[in-house]
Amino acid sequence: MYDVYEIRKQFPMLREQKYMQGKPLVFLDNASTTFKPQCVIDAVVKYYSEVTANSHRGDYDLCYNMDVEIEKTRKVIAKFVNCDFKEVVFTSGDTMSLNLIAYSLGRKILKKGDEVVLSYAEHSSDILPWYQVCNEVGAEVKLIPLSEKGELLPENLDKVMSNKTKIVSIANVGNVLAYTANIKGLTAVAHKYGAYMVVDGAQSVPHNKTDFKDWDIDFLTFSAHKMCGPTGIGCMIGKYSILEMMDPFIVGGGNNVTFNTNQQVDYLEPPVKFEAGTLNLAGIMGFKAAVEFIDSIGIENIHKHDQELFDYAIEKLSQLDNVIIYNKEARGGVITFNVKDVFAQDEATLLNSKGIAVRSGQHCAKILNGFLKTPATCRMSTYLYTTKEEIDALVNALKEGGNILDAYFN
Ligand SMILES: Cc1ncc(COP(=O)(O)O)c(C=O)c1O
Repeated sequence: MYDVYEIRKQFPMLREQKYMQGKPLVFLDNASTTFKPQCVIDAVVKYYSEVTANSHRGDYDLCYNMDVEIEKTRKVIAKFVNCDFKEVVFTSGDTMSLNLIAYSLGRKILKKGDEVVLSYAEHSSDILPWYQVCNEVGAEVKLIPLSEKGELLPENLDKVMSNKTKIVSIANVGNVLAYTANIKGLTAVAHKYGAYMVVDGAQSVPHNKTDFKDWDIDFLTFSAHKMCGPTGIGCMIGKYSILEMMDPFIVGGGNNVTFNTNQQVDYLEPPVKFEAGTLNLAGIMGFKAAVEFIDSIGIENIHKHDQELFDYAIEKLSQLDNVIIYNKEARGGVITFNVKDVFAQDEATLLNSKGIAVRSGQHCAKILNGFLKTPATCRMSTYLYTTKEEIDALVNALKEGGNILDAYFN
């Protein structure tokens, strides 16, 4: 039985009532980042207070133990998303992972006239690295049109593909409309044209079952902090044969076998080839604790909880005449909305004055505006500890309406 109240007890941010603007805090910005359970905090503290050492660099126990810890974490992550543990590359997070792919793969294979396919719903972290590399080599970015509802459909991908397309990079779940894409279907289309398939899993890995092997994708990226883990750590997962062919994007200590005065370098095998410099070791220990924590609840149960909250929230919000919902059928952890005739940032400020944290603006998806036909929206997002009472608090606040001046003078 999914007991959200028991789960909440494990989170210091939720164990005792927190306040914002003097009101009980209702945190509905989980797509941005999530709270951390005690086990994750303990794992991070353990690194600093009990097992501090660098990795790959010494012949003493503390250092060796850290190497063991890193490999154990790779295995826990690999099992969680169903890939080989040697395919897990640690990065500082999703953004860094996408940059790594764009620079290490994109720069290697893209030539003038080639195409990279993205969608209108992408986060800037899955657009700007591609713009950089495409501008550099003279390649072009093409965008997949969304369906009327805002979904990413294989048939629409097919329409923009050509034999010039070398890479397709899309989010499994977008951070605004949040429909879950048919990744297997989309991958089949990308591969039909011989293109690599990159999946930005920032919003999906924390909420949905991920199957790297079964989906047959070439790359997967995600951040620990959106799934109860620490900030500053994440990973890039890539098919091993592709990782072998790619050049490292960041080079330095820890990723080479040898180099000489003739400027010849012999790099280590993947994944360490891509992990030059001291890794975020405390983060890696926290990442492992986070994945084990999610596993202990069950990703399917978390997904079901998201859907129940989504259905509950949509039912309540749909009863409010003044609320416009942009993704009524997404059935995930995100609801994007506006209050009629109120600018999104004003609404979020007003909600803040009532202790409710939601995100407003363009949510880093700046080319989605044409589809949404509005310059800004509010976004509420849930996670495994969100309750129906928190949804009620949002609905009641929206029901009450209110003047933006309330935010400043109450
Ligand atoms: C879909 C998507 N991609 C990429 C990112 C970037 O993640 P990070 O800031 O953890 O690198 C986010 C963050 O919100 C996101 O929602």
